[in-house]
Parts: sequence; C-alpha cells; structure tokens
Amino acid sequence: MGVAVVLVAAGNGERLGANRPKALVELGNKAILSHALVAVINYNPNQIIVVGHPQFQSEFEAVINEFPGIEIVLVPGGQSRQQSVAIGVSLVSHDLVLVHDAARCFAPPSLFKDVEAALLDSVCVVPLMPVSDTIKRVMAGVVLETIDRSQLGAAQTPQGFKTKELLFALSNSEIEFTDEAALMQAAEHKVLAIAGDARAYKVTTSDDLNKAASDLNPRRTGIGTDVHEFSNAGELMLGCLIWPELPKLKGHSDGDTIAHAIVDALLSAAGLGDIGSNFGVDQPQYSGASGEQFLLDTLSLLAAKNLYPVNVAVQVVSDKPKIGPRRLELEARLSAIISAPVSVGATTTDGLGFLADARGVAAVATALLRGSD
Ligand code: CTP
Ligand code: MG
Repeated sequence: MGVAVVLVAAGNGERLGANRPKALVELGNKAILSHALVAVINYNPNQIIVVGHPQFQSEFEAVINEFPGIEIVLVPGGQSRQQSVAIGVSLVSHDLVLVHDAARCFAPPSLFKDVEAALLDSVCVVPLMPVSDTIKRVMAGVVLETIDRSQLGAAQTPQGFKTKELLFALSNSEIEFTDEAALMQAAEHKVLAIAGDARAYKVTTSDDLNKAASDLNPRRTGIGTDVHEFSNAGELMLGCLIWPELPKLKGHSDGDTIAHAIVDALLSAAGLGDIGSNFGVDQPQYSGASGEQFLLDTLSLLAAKNLYPVNVAVQVVSDKPKIGPRRLELEARLSAIISAPVSVGATTTDGLGFLADARGVAAVATALLRGSD
C-alpha cells in the first residue's frame, strides 16, 4: 500500500500581495514551494505531485528542477483549491494520499508520518491545533455568542485520505470546501483528528512571511569578556586602533581586549567554544596576532556554519584610555571589520578593584548572529 503526496500550490496568493503565486515567493533564497518540497522529499512518499499555477508553469518547473533525481509530477491547477486538489488526486496511483498546502512550507516530515500512520484505521485524517483565543460568533459587529474553545481545533495539512474515497467525494461534490476533511465529513465519512504541529502554520499574509523568514534564520546571542594588564613598553592596540600615549597590553597576542571580547561573543553565539579553544597559545601563528586577524578568522569560522553577525555591543571597563573621544572612530573601525554595526560604550570601576589605577583594560561584548548551522 503506497502513499502519494499532492502538494497544492496553484493559488494566486492574493492576501500575500506579492503579484505572483505564493508558492513562488522567495523565503530566504528559495521559493516557498522549494521549502515545502524539502519536507515532502524527506518524508519520502511513493509519489509526489505538485499542482502549480497554470500561468507560471516554467517557474514551477524551475523549482522542481532544484531536485534532480527525484521524480516529481507537475500539473496545472484549477480556479479553486478544491479543483486543484481534484486535478492532483486524479493522478495518484497509490492507495493513500496526503494533500498538503505548499503554503505550509515548514510542516515537518514527522507530521506526514503521523497522518499516514493514522490512516491505518481511518479514511480521513486531519491534524488539528488547539485554539488558544476565545472565539466569538459575530454578526454585523455584535457578538452573538462565545464558543467553547475546548471543542475547537484549527485544521492544518497534510490531511490524509484513502485515495478511492477522496476521489469519489471530490467528483461528486457540488459545494466548494476550504479543506478536504470538510468535504469528506459532508460525504459522511468519519474524520479522525490527530495532533497538529505548530511548524505547519500557513503563510497567508506578509506578517506570516516575516515570521517564516525569522524561523528560517533563527538568531542567537553570545557573550564574551577579556581582561589584560598593561605592560611597561610598546604601543597600546585596543579595538584595532593604536593609542600612542599608552603601553601595550600584555598577552600572547597583541592583547587587544576589545577585539578578544568580541571574538568570544561571536564564538559563544555560534556555539563554537571560545578564543582559547580556537586560537590557543599552542598555535604559533597567533603569537603576536592582531585583534583584526582574530576577528577575521572568527568570521570565517562562523561563515563555515552559515552564521553572520547582526550586531555587536561592547563595553570597555577601564580608567585609561578614555574611550569617549574616540568612540565613533572605534565603532567605525570595528564595524568595518565585522561588516555589521558595533556599538562601543565605556565605564570605570569607580576606583575599586583590579581595574582601578589604570592597571589594565577589561571589555565585555555581546553579539547577535543570524543564519543557521
Ligand atoms: N491553492 C491551489 N489552487 C487554488 C487555490 C489555492 O492549489 N486555486 C493552494 C494554494 O497554492 C495554497 C493552498 O491551496 O498552497 C492554500 O490556499 P491559500 O492559503 O488560500 O493560498 P492562495 O489561494 O494562494 O492565497 P489567497 O487565498 O490569499 O489568494
Ligand atoms: Mg486561497
């Protein structure tokens, strides 16, 4: 007993307002349809049918061609969702079919498996999400009643069916339903409800598309701290700038506490350990290395994991140097190195502790990264 997936993608996407079918709208650097296909392919059904928009067949073909070696049937859809489903289901050559909205492009393969498993005991399966808002029935701006939400569920896809029964219901219905579970219920089939998955939300409006974009690129924060003591000689390097009036900070490298705190914050946000575990004293190439080199090498480690800085904030803790007069210069220099905004602030310890009397410089940094590994 095989299973097919019919991925309906022929809608106009009017509520999204992108002037082209929603399934072709870009999310990250791929079409929504492409994301949906990744999940379907990972689920690994026996047959995949994509119902595309009749006026954009070559664009749909281009998305399908992103998956060479995977057999995907493309067919032009109809005026309504139900017509598109009927066209897709008519091509199914297996006993079971899962009908899925391309617009629910992050529905995980596990949800497809759950729906398929539930079809063992049922002709029709629908995943439902609990409703968290209090729901009112309204007419002409007046609330008529409050509905007991414990009995309600919001329907998602994929919805699963025995192919023969679904085909029969589709070809005999004179009413357009918004999902096939409603069609099957109207045809007096028992509709089995299973738990939905929050990731199977539908991209309908531009707010949904923004949410999807941020789900695709989760953001991660990190923190870093560094402290170095002043030596008696040399020239201070701090925040990748020279400070001629002060001596160098002690350290295996050039002792640039600001740069090192940023490196630690970036590595921490990426889950890549810290400066010691990546550029330890056992690595001779980092003896005397500049803060800039540490930063650039850190960015390469991040890029290899597809992670990029969104912004960095640094606070310097020291009596000397006074950061204020060169704050903008520091921010410009550091922002140019990491290709993202770096903001710099400073404070003293009010004469207390080991940083009083200009004995050294400490810096604390936080970093926010975008991207995913
Ligand atoms: N769909 C379809 N054929 C149609 C209408 C809709 O295949 N004639 C598909 C959509 O492509 C989508 C799914 O059904 O994947 C759910 O529909 P919806 O979210 O309403 O998408 P659109 O109809 O494209 O959006 P809108 O209603 O805002 O125009
Ligand atoms: Mg629609």
